[in-house]
Amino acid sequence: MQMYLEKFNTMDSHNEKLGFCDFFMIAIFVVFAIHSCPTVYGESGAEKFLNVVEQVEDHLPYSSSSEGTDEVDLEDDTWQMVQKKGNQFVIDDQPFYINGFNTYWLMVFAADQSTKGKVSELFQQASSAGLTVCRTWAFNDGQYRALQKSPSVYDEEVFKALDFVVSEARKYKIRLILSLINNWDAYGGKSQYVKWGKAAGLNLTSDDDFFSHPTLKSYYKAHVKAMLNRVNTLNNITYKNDPTIFAWELMNEPRCTSDPTGDILQNWIQEMAVYVKSIDPKHLLEIGLEGFYGPSTPNKVQFNPNTYAQQVGTDFIRNHQALGVDFASVHIYADSWISQSISDVHLQFTKSWVEAHIDDAEKYLGMPVVFAEFGVSTKDPGYNSSFRDTLISTVYKSLLESTKKGGSGGGSLLWQLFPEGTDYMDDGYAIVLSKSPSTTKIVSLQSTRLALFNSRCSWKCHWGCKKKNSLEKISNHDEL
Ligand SMILES: *[C@@H]1O[C@H](CO)[C@@H](O)[C@H](O)[C@H]1NC(C)=O
Ligand SMILES: *[C@@H]1O[C@H](CO)[C@@H](O)[C@H](O)[C@H]1NC(C)=O
Ligand SMILES: *[C@@H]1O[C@H](CO)[C@@H](O)[C@H](O)[C@H]1NC(C)=O
Repeated sequence: MQMYLEKFNTMDSHNEKLGFCDFFMIAIFVVFAIHSCPTVYGESGAEKFLNVVEQVEDHLPYSSSSEGTDEVDLEDDTWQMVQKKGNQFVIDDQPFYINGFNTYWLMVFAADQSTKGKVSELFQQASSAGLTVCRTWAFNDGQYRALQKSPSVYDEEVFKALDFVVSEARKYKIRLILSLINNWDAYGGKSQYVKWGKAAGLNLTSDDDFFSHPTLKSYYKAHVKAMLNRVNTLNNITYKNDPTIFAWELMNEPRCTSDPTGDILQNWIQEMAVYVKSIDPKHLLEIGLEGFYGPSTPNKVQFNPNTYAQQVGTDFIRNHQALGVDFASVHIYADSWISQSISDVHLQFTKSWVEAHIDDAEKYLGMPVVFAEFGVSTKDPGYNSSFRDTLISTVYKSLLESTKKGGSGGGSLLWQLFPEGTDYMDDGYAIVLSKSPSTTKIVSLQSTRLALFNSRCSWKCHWGCKKKNSLEKISNHDEL
């Protein structure tokens, strides 16, 4: 642990030495951006910019080390709600492309003094690699350290732990996607809701009754309401008003295999999306889907990893057309969906899976798409770290292709980032940045590139606002 901290301190001072250089280079890029502003960005302007962005890779390590450690300034009016404009995320009209990560267990770790520090450690490391969004569980139903012990009965200590996760994320300028329930049994999930229903005397025969039984739907809605109206005990900000929350997610990886037509899940999504929005119209909302093509698009099922995928009751295009859903989510697991043995097939699938969904988000949905989970298990036969790096680069590269065209590729979230000393939670997919220098380099490079796109003026606004925003950015970067 001590060695590890020393390593980071060394990195920090290295970055400080480069501080002026960074600023100087960014200033040049911003001047470039301002000069290309008088006309709305066309393809060629964007291409030129991307070329510049690509050239920075070896010269500009991400250096946010001075950011995020400050005291939280609640008057900070630059910390605003993320919004959506067409197929792009924006903050105050500036584009917001995401390089982010998952760490599902933050709330449970924050609930114990002995592990709470890991949450801050993780955010610190993520922010050093320029990561700006973290997806995590805002549920733990009926299990060890449950948030919800039984329907609408909460453990206040665990809710305070989630308060800590939310307020701590802000310190490191990281926004959160909070998922509201699991499809799977881990941390309770829909099967726990069904158990509660049975205990209350309901005649339930399948875990999929979660999606249709009125009482179970009312349990879920009550959880949504409690979560959105929660007042953070550390900063008094109501969750539904907190810009630290990037988006709500209805469910982690919903599937309703008992109804391959998809109608039951579709109805549930429609009802719950409208319900979330009725309480919290400010935050963005996504479903949490894996992204399988379903019965509404028979011409697209060829992109699915296998033929089973179209029979799990989900439907990428149709589901995301539900009123209230703001952006699409897709997961990418070639190893668990196609074959565990590592091969080039994984990379080919990954590339076409990403491209197909960006295309569809653009053409049929008119919304951004976030690749909200992707990774590879170190336990897979044939695994090595250079394969993992190639896989990550494949996703990043496909996304950059979209970014440079102003397309729907909103960003990606690694599954999953861990601090040191939490190996016992590892499902094989954990990435510990301090132990993986080559991966860290790839991740930081993507952050740097996206940060340059984000600091650039909005694609469509006019000269005046671009100039103002760009100049503000220069002064922000000056602080680096
Ligand atoms: C419980 O529901 C099943 C399926 O809906 C039905 O067949 C069964 O008769 C019901 N049992 C009782 C005791 O109501
Ligand atoms: C939150 O609000 C309460 C009641 O208004 C106040 O007593 C408390 O000091 C506030 N806490 C913070 C952290 O602002
Ligand atoms: C890593 O794994 C890939 C895929 O199995 C393989 O093609 C490559 O040669 C391996 N690289 C090393 C350095 O072992």
